[in-house]
Amino acid sequence: MLSFDTNGEFSQNYKFLIGSILPRPIAVVSTLNNDGTNNVAPFSFFTAVSAKPMIVAFSPLIRSSTGEMKDTAKNILNNKEFVINIVSQEIAEKVNLTSTELDYGQDEFEFAGLTPLDSELIGPKRIKESLIHFECKYRDHLSYGDQPGCGQIITGEVIKVHVDESIYENGRINTQKLNPVGRGAGNDWFKCDSTFTMERLMKAQIQK
Ligand SMILES: Cc1cc2nc3c(=O)[nH]c(=O)nc-3n(C[C@H](O)[C@H](O)[C@H](O)COP(=O)(O)O)c2cc1C
Repeated sequence: MLSFDTNGEFSQNYKFLIGSILPRPIAVVSTLNNDGTNNVAPFSFFTAVSAKPMIVAFSPLIRSSTGEMKDTAKNILNNKEFVINIVSQEIAEKVNLTSTELDYGQDEFEFAGLTPLDSELIGPKRIKESLIHFECKYRDHLSYGDQPGCGQIITGEVIKVHVDESIYENGRINTQKLNPVGRGAGNDWFKCDSTFTMERLMKAQIQK
């Protein structure tokens, strides 16, 4: 086996992370800029943390091109609210466009051809074309440094969930109908149109 130290270039570590931890779910995070315009960007360093309270976490890295915090992180630390929109394959290309580095204040909804939809409880807009929306209130911020490639964890409490009727059956989200996509290494994405099911040994261990 090849072995590597992790104290060299951040880009080498980054490639180990994105090549090993995959497929990664994608959070498309919408926030409000200081002037009230919309900001949207995808983040695949994203996970569920707690069911009740309902907490999710994602990780915007310090931008390698400028050494600055990404607009999403700035906005959340400023106004403490964000929406997580889930990506179905049908909108993957538009979501990819939202990752373009636009100047602060330029609306990525408009740029990507996505439709803003009012949230019920917070200011940032939801993406109409996305089939699941989480309205989130900021909870925690952990920073691992301020150099390019340094990460941070932002967690939010989901205070409202919106699920499109077409994918909701018997109290569950139907994975095939949601047709989610995941992120791989480099520019690779995963389709999730093939799944398999395995019973666990003890039924009592399964979360209801
Ligand atoms: C599918 C996908 C997943 C991404 N995941 C992350 C991530 O987890 N962390 C990160 O810092 N950037 C990630 N990016 C890059 C950001 O989306 C990109 O830097 C974006 O310009 C940030 O926008 P903002 O400055 O408006 O926050 C990802 C890009 C794509 C296309």
